[in-house]
Amino acid sequence: SFRRAKASSPITMANDEVTGGSLKQQLAKLFEESLRITVPEELDVDPAIAPCQNPKFGDYQCNNAMGLWSKVKGKSTQFKGPQPIGQAIMKNLPASEMVDSCSIAGPGFVNVVLSRQWIAKSIQKMLVDGIETWAPKLPVKRAVVDFSSPNIAKEMHVGHLRSTIIGDTLARMLEYSNVEVLRRNHVGDWGTQFGMLIEYLFEKFPSGEVASDQAIGDLETFYKASKQRFDSDPAFKERAQRAVVSLQAGEEKYRKAWAHICEISRRGYEKVYQRLGVHLEERGESFYNPYIPGALELLSKKGLIEESEGARVIFIEGKNIPLIVVKKDGGYNYASTDLAALWYRLNEEKAEWIIYVTDVGQREHFEMFFTAAKRAGWLPAEDIKYPKASHVGFGLVLGEDGKRFRTRSTETVKLVDLLDEAKSKCKAALIERGKAKDWTEEELEKTAEAVGYGAVKYADLKNNRTTNYTFSFDQMLNDKGNTAVYLLYAHARICSIIRKSGKDIEELKKTGTLDLVHPDERTLGLHLLQFAEVVEEACTNLLPNVLCEYLYNLSEDFTRFYTNCQVVGSAEETSRLLLCEATAVVMRKCFHLLGITPVYKI
Ligand code: ARG
Repeated sequence: SFRRAKASSPITMANDEVTGGSLKQQLAKLFEESLRITVPEELDVDPAIAPCQNPKFGDYQCNNAMGLWSKVKGKSTQFKGPQPIGQAIMKNLPASEMVDSCSIAGPGFVNVVLSRQWIAKSIQKMLVDGIETWAPKLPVKRAVVDFSSPNIAKEMHVGHLRSTIIGDTLARMLEYSNVEVLRRNHVGDWGTQFGMLIEYLFEKFPSGEVASDQAIGDLETFYKASKQRFDSDPAFKERAQRAVVSLQAGEEKYRKAWAHICEISRRGYEKVYQRLGVHLEERGESFYNPYIPGALELLSKKGLIEESEGARVIFIEGKNIPLIVVKKDGGYNYASTDLAALWYRLNEEKAEWIIYVTDVGQREHFEMFFTAAKRAGWLPAEDIKYPKASHVGFGLVLGEDGKRFRTRSTETVKLVDLLDEAKSKCKAALIERGKAKDWTEEELEKTAEAVGYGAVKYADLKNNRTTNYTFSFDQMLNDKGNTAVYLLYAHARICSIIRKSGKDIEELKKTGTLDLVHPDERTLGLHLLQFAEVVEEACTNLLPNVLCEYLYNLSEDFTRFYTNCQVVGSAEETSRLLLCEATAVVMRKCFHLLGITPVYKI
């Protein structure tokens, strides 16, 4: 059996079958064997493996000695302090081709220098077998990622864009790690706003015939007009409230009008998904409506639901306001739907990890219904266990004026326009660089699209998601600094080095040998090998910026290598071309996981 390093991943392994895995997992496995021999009486101690704080001493270190000392001291033990424990851990480490040498530092830290040959061999193996073989192992088989989730007939704003971009990346990273991901678009397609929308539709088309889509036109305007009607005319308001009842009772005429409104809205946001290359499965709030009574019944049986001021609520310790699950008028709400959806995802879909991507403003909502689910025994009380529910909160998108992001003319931003603008700015930059001469129109378009959309995504993903970020075309489209433009160009440059060498790289993979003689080659090689543990960390902590940081540092390591090591025409040409290719492969995988389309020439 294999347990993970506690420092990095607070996850309990659901299955013990771990072979391979990330570099760090492989090292942890070695140290686990040593720990078992060194302190057989402390079997529940996980190896604590981390990159060396000072690379002078090695690549990785094992930090268990101190913790073990505090456990065993006082008991009859052969050890006289943490240092001897460290010594013993080092001595008992099974022989492995991974490890070149070990040393002890301070109070028993075991430093490990990895074998240069082993690093080189592992990279070459990846080049032959494919980067899928580097996928990290995660302790879950199936996850739900609930993301994007706009509300029908209301505008899809930049917050939904953030959710779409972040959620897609998380889904991609989990999928790469062999987790089956149910990509759920939890659209707001239910609720009282539909009463007024439907009633307004009938008013505009008294025949009861549902209009063609042009007739409704811009749904947002339609929403605003119906809202105004609702707020100003009490008779309309009453009809709208009755319409909700008729809709929920399933009356044909109302269902049809509802479906029609949803369909028009859907066509709008599908355009955004298409531009972004994001795949989602729509399963809106309405889907879970039939499951609400059953879910509430279960919570009721556990004694969780109480009456309060005419509503039915769940009181949560530490919160002033209870979670309302049935409103005064008997209707259900956002929370009742989420409870039913959680029940469904756990029991019908058998998801082990349910991930919700919304702005941080909804944190309280998620905390409250997660707590309710824990008290009901649907989820384990400890967050380190599975099944698990996680809220992935993100900050606001700000304009360059530091206020909520808007465009000059409208209060909000049309997402499609925003993406179009990024693309056309990139196209203009390419034309300015003189590309229109050598490239076909299609190449220009495709590249502008890849770079433009990639820039918007990367600018969002590179920040720690919980902070607000400032939307700036100037910044994100800069070809210097930590931007998608810079990274995509860096990748294209590597491809051109390989092309210009005139060598058949597929042939070299089979016949050539990779070696990492120069220190900058070794640094780059080790960085490549750390890809899996970075993806693992980004997944475990649900932080895409960890992968962005890795990618940016990788391109810096490559630049250092390329500056200091001659590639084409050198004695080490074959080996160095293979290292170039491996860097390009890993960069492409990073782009893929970030939802960015790579470009090959620039
Ligand atoms: N429709 C919601 C909004 O726009 C987001 C839904 C998130 N998912 C969920 N299961 N609550 O704010």
